[in-house]
Amino acid sequence: MTKAIRIHQTGGPETMVLEDIEVGQPGPGEVRIRHHAIGLNFIDVYFRTGAYPLPLPASLGMEGAGVVEAVGEGVTHLKAGDRCAYASQPPGAYCEVRVMPAKCVCRLPDAIDFETAAAMMLKGLTAQYLLKKTLPPGGLNPGDFVLFHAAAGGVGLIACQWARALGLQLIGTAGSDAKCALAREHGAAHMINYATEDFAARVKEITGGKGVKVVYDSVGKDTWDKSLDCLAPFGLMASFGASSGAVPPFAPAILGGKGSLYVTRQTLFTHIATRESTQAMADDLFEVVASGKVKIRIDQRYPLAQVQQAHRDLEGRKTTGSTVLLP
Ligand SMILES: NC(=O)c1ccc[n+]([C@@H]2O[C@H](COP(=O)([O-])OP(=O)(O)OC[C@H]3O[C@@H](n4cnc5c(N)ncnc54)[C@H](OP(=O)(O)O)[C@@H]3O)[C@@H](O)[C@H]2O)c1
Repeated sequence: MTKAIRIHQTGGPETMVLEDIEVGQPGPGEVRIRHHAIGLNFIDVYFRTGAYPLPLPASLGMEGAGVVEAVGEGVTHLKAGDRCAYASQPPGAYCEVRVMPAKCVCRLPDAIDFETAAAMMLKGLTAQYLLKKTLPPGGLNPGDFVLFHAAAGGVGLIACQWARALGLQLIGTAGSDAKCALAREHGAAHMINYATEDFAARVKEITGGKGVKVVYDSVGKDTWDKSLDCLAPFGLMASFGASSGAVPPFAPAILGGKGSLYVTRQTLFTHIATRESTQAMADDLFEVVASGKVKIRIDQRYPLAQVQQAHRDLEGRKTTGSTVLLP
């Protein structure tokens, strides 16, 4: 048996309840992990509210770090006793012990502690595929401007640092002056408080009227329209989240009028569909963290049993950087 957070219906944070559930043996291709730390992510909110449907009752959580207790048939890259971390489907990380597919579970380098790992796998792999694989025609070169919304959040602070390491000029947005200062400390070249400033006008000003090559937009509904106005001709609108709500349907003709723009909606789970791609991306993340170029900032820690409060704070825009839950 293990303690796990589950929902029996979708809705607010109060739908998450702590329960004792059965944990089985790992089957072929599976692994059993005892968590030392669990990552909190905005995607957990989408599952909890039903924006992303799940069969009920459902376990939540997509990111964790701990020790392998047992491996199933055919698993060769892990063994009992290994330190490990993951960002993966299916949901179910909000627990002490779980069985899950092994292909997205990576061995953790000794230099990275469990809390750091739980705080960085989903968010760091996302920053990796955005900045390195979600690119405008011709790619990104040192000195190029990109716009990154919610830059003081979990994914945001990692992206600020990684963009600086790549030589990019990241223009970030955030909802308060304090958050803007934090993102600037972490490598954002320019910050815009989108609660008080017109971010499209400021982007034009900062880029001398040219616009940015890419907008990385996880805010969705509230930022979509103006984000298109921030792009240079042939620029890329990379949508990867909807923390303010889903982007409404739009007419593709708009993209022509605004400079023959490209649009993509990316998800990490396409990028980590295989063991090989997961490991290659994780190695890149481990290296940039071990080098000190990207530091993983954990600004909130909650006991697993207080997950309701953790969700309230995340949705209430009270958090910065990463958040971990401790089993
Ligand atoms: N597609 C993918 O592969 C993928 C992977 C990971 C994460 N994501 C997305 O990336 C985003 C960031 O994830 P995260 O876990 O690191 O969260 P986070 O950035 O730490 O938290 C979300 C932030 O979004 C901003 N925000 C803007 N409007 C909001 C609203 N109406 N309600 C709540 N927050 C709002 C807030 O920052 P301000 O107060 O500064 O506005 C808030 O702190 C989420 O949208 C998530 O779904 C996507």
